[in-house]
Amino acid sequence: MAENQNQSRHGMWSSGALFVLAAVGSAVGLGNIWKFPYITGENGGGAFLLVYLICICAIGFPVMMAEIMLGKQGRMSPINSVLKLARDNNRSPMWSLIGWAGVVGGIIILSFYAVVAGWITYYVYQLFSGAFSGADSAATGAAFEEFTGSPGKLLLWFSVFMAVTIFVVARGVNKGLEIAIRICMPLIFVLLVVMLIYGIAQGGFWDGFNYMFHVDFSKLKLNGLLVAMGHAFFTLSIGMGAIMAYGAYMPQQESIKSAVGIIVIVDTVVALVAGLAIFSIVYAHGMNPSAGPGLLFVSAPVAFGNLPLGSLFGGLFFLFVAFAAFTSAISLTEPALAYFVEKTNVKRWKVAFLLGSATWVLGLGSVFSYNLWEEFQPIFGWTIFDLLDKLTTWFFMPLGGLAIAIFVGYFLPWKKVKEYLEIKSQWAHYVWVALICVVAPISILVVFALTIVQHFLGQ
Ligand code: TRP
Repeated sequence: MAENQNQSRHGMWSSGALFVLAAVGSAVGLGNIWKFPYITGENGGGAFLLVYLICICAIGFPVMMAEIMLGKQGRMSPINSVLKLARDNNRSPMWSLIGWAGVVGGIIILSFYAVVAGWITYYVYQLFSGAFSGADSAATGAAFEEFTGSPGKLLLWFSVFMAVTIFVVARGVNKGLEIAIRICMPLIFVLLVVMLIYGIAQGGFWDGFNYMFHVDFSKLKLNGLLVAMGHAFFTLSIGMGAIMAYGAYMPQQESIKSAVGIIVIVDTVVALVAGLAIFSIVYAHGMNPSAGPGLLFVSAPVAFGNLPLGSLFGGLFFLFVAFAAFTSAISLTEPALAYFVEKTNVKRWKVAFLLGSATWVLGLGSVFSYNLWEEFQPIFGWTIFDLLDKLTTWFFMPLGGLAIAIFVGYFLPWKKVKEYLEIKSQWAHYVWVALICVVAPISILVVFALTIVQHFLGQ
């Protein structure tokens, strides 16, 4: 029994460092490289960055600690880990809904995440092949429109990315996830540094720096708060049970606090460095970065297409993004996968295949959002893709985070939590209690309240 408590039946990360690397792999992804730079640009640069950093410290940090702790104590899928802790402490089994949100949310996120990751994969190939040599933004814009407008091509690349993801997760924690992480993570860091150096060498660094950091409070609207908070959850992979599932495989002796410290810092630094690299490269070609999601697919290819050794570095850049997306995608199925294996005792690879197929079917909605079903915008003028993205980023994750904070802060004994988190000093414990019981939940509620008020009062 004693051994049981410190082991998970799905396997364990072979060291504490591997847990940290896996969690960083999950956190660093399209959120950092594709979303973060353009939402920062759109919402007032440095002003938005400030709000985002506050969200990371006040909400992201405590919620991630709480989430990993639940997994590490439960040693099972998020649903069963939360259920176990609820039962052990005479709390309602309804708390396991936190885990259910993760199962459903993870699948939904993967369904659209893999679509964008599919675009990235296609662009790796396009850039290496020199397709954008000498192109201007009219040409890359048209190429992007043509690509996303073609359901067959999108479907192909989405399916390729999904197939590789499912193949790896099906092989299990040690033979699948861990091998992928050991291979991809060093490459991701090396390529990131290469891109930054390339950007600096091309001479666009200070323009890029100004674009990202110059503070413009007039562009920061109330909605920017929800965008910043939602992104804090998205980029750290929290509120959805994914990091909880990873926490279940964390070696007993590894400390949660220091792991979370490293994960949060590395994720933030990668977002900043990736943003700087992208904007430097775009400015090096003397271009204004295009706003919105097109930044990576329209502006970046023009810059690479016109800079020295651009095909090589452009291909490497997209390869870097593809690896980052991949080490995130493999964390999205873990809550569901672990749960169904526990529940049914069916072999992991069979469950993976079924889940992958279901996700693939759901993903068709996002694939066709750019072509066949472009006009289908059930509410707020959002396509299915937008709807799934916003539903999970703006609502599922913050609500999941809120539930985690309340469960850990108010429904588990403070003394036990202190022990689990190895908080030694009384002073640090007060800070922790204040963060998890007050700061995190109130901040989440305030952002929601302001968003609702803004929505009803209009602007
Ligand atoms: N953090 C990843 C990114 O920034 C996305 C992601 C991976 C995620 N796993 C998650 C988001 C789990 C929420 C929950 O790209």
